[in-house]
Amino acid sequence: MIRIASILTLLCTSIVAQSPPSSLPPTDPGIFTAQASIIIDAPIEAVWAILLDFPKYPQWNPFVRSQTVTNTLWIPTEDQVAYENFRLIIQAQIPPLTPPVNENTPPNPFHAQTAFENITKIDAVNHQAFWRSIMLPQEILDSERMQVLSVVGVGKTYYEAREVFKGPASYVVDALFAEGLQKGFSAQAVALKARAEM
Ligand SMILES: *[C@@H]1O[C@H](CO)[C@@H](O)[C@H](O)[C@H]1NC(C)=O
Repeated sequence: MIRIASILTLLCTSIVAQSPPSSLPPTDPGIFTAQASIIIDAPIEAVWAILLDFPKYPQWNPFVRSQTVTNTLWIPTEDQVAYENFRLIIQAQIPPLTPPVNENTPPNPFHAQTAFENITKIDAVNHQAFWRSIMLPQEILDSERMQVLSVVGVGKTYYEAREVFKGPASYVVDALFAEGLQKGFSAQAVALKARAEM
């Protein structure tokens, strides 16, 4: 009897702990991966709007402190709307700042990193936003940050982010930044949830 009860408890716990089905496309493992996922108590369109409102990132994001949309000549655009094949200049803190942050939180200059990316996918129907590092040739460093949203209940959204690092330079990124990047992905997911549930 006790045994059956504990087996039942175990079963229930594992059902509750199960994550929703993933909407991320399958990727090969690469050299290393940074990823995060979180369930947010806010409607998908509200979360999507926060995710794409880059000018407001400094107000809440402890990892990506600023993200500027530019044209292909690296000149910032007037409207800062994300379009495929536009570029991004990302100022990140790796590891992230200690949350909560706002637009006045000073950066840690020792942890400041700049990334140059190409916006590879903005799908407002399926709520998918991807950008790929173009600092180095793809044969040297191949990494694409994928962020997707899906509905997991009335007014509930599942946020998933993943970036697989491939190519020989990934070993260097792995050694220097893997732990900090993973902390950044986790911190951004938690901060996005806090922002959306405000
Ligand atoms: C940027 O991404 C777009 C959309 O995926 C693609 O068509 C274009 O070739 C990419 N440009 C560069 C420089 O990687």
